[in-house]
Amino acid sequence: MITTLHPNAAPEMQAILVVSFGTSYAETRAKTIDATETRIAEAYPGYDIRRAFTSKMIIKVLRDRDGMMVDTPEEALKKLYEEGYSKVIVQPLHIINGSEYHDTLVVCEKYRRGFSQFSVGTALLNSTEDYRQVCEIFMKHSPSLNPGEALLLMGHGSVHSANAAYPALDYTFKQLGYADVHVGTVEGYPELPEVMALMAPKQYRKIYLMPLMLVAGDHAQNDMASDEEDSWKTLLEAEGYAAEPILIGMGEMPEIQDLYVTHLDQAMARLAGVND
Ligand code: CO
Repeated sequence: MITTLHPNAAPEMQAILVVSFGTSYAETRAKTIDATETRIAEAYPGYDIRRAFTSKMIIKVLRDRDGMMVDTPEEALKKLYEEGYSKVIVQPLHIINGSEYHDTLVVCEKYRRGFSQFSVGTALLNSTEDYRQVCEIFMKHSPSLNPGEALLLMGHGSVHSANAAYPALDYTFKQLGYADVHVGTVEGYPELPEVMALMAPKQYRKIYLMPLMLVAGDHAQNDMASDEEDSWKTLLEAEGYAAEPILIGMGEMPEIQDLYVTHLDQAMARLAGVND
């Protein structure tokens, strides 16, 4: 636990630490994580932008396979502290305020008092307005649905209580009038069979699949879109649906990048004491 400012702390040194789960898929990483970091850098030109990934497994793959070094949130905060930064805002790019997000908060608590100004932004799905905006953004970036067609989003899912965000987002789509948009998860609730049971009475012909994830990485490419026997595409086709995967990570959508900037703005406002 850090309890005091570093002796080198300089008032003009300010940084934004962008934290994401990470991905070892370079192509989607450039379009999503890099692009969001660039968008944040444009919105906050006076700040140094740093990166951390929460997945130690991905950090290891990148180091061993690509010689690419990425910090954990703890390593990144330690460096910022030792380099004498005095103002630090951490903006996670997680979708829900789940276990990855809360692990990040725990690390942030260890370093909070090492900076004269410090704040942490929320994950993407935080306020009711966030849910509405995410629905509308998906409707802009997905094919317009003809009768007999549906859009099914693949969220990650979690054992954390924040998993409730996924059925809440499904509800929000319906409440906004998008009756044929459905949300499922790979590792949480609802899973594909549960969503399929709810879709069955609608007798869809065709189902578009999109990841409800920052990146179109391992889960999107393998568990959602591949021809493997247990992919969502394969399982839907086995039930007689035409299935068309769309491999766009949410981080590619400019409006999602802007929503993260909005969350960063909110974290900045807390830092400045506007909401105190
Ligand atoms: Co996973």
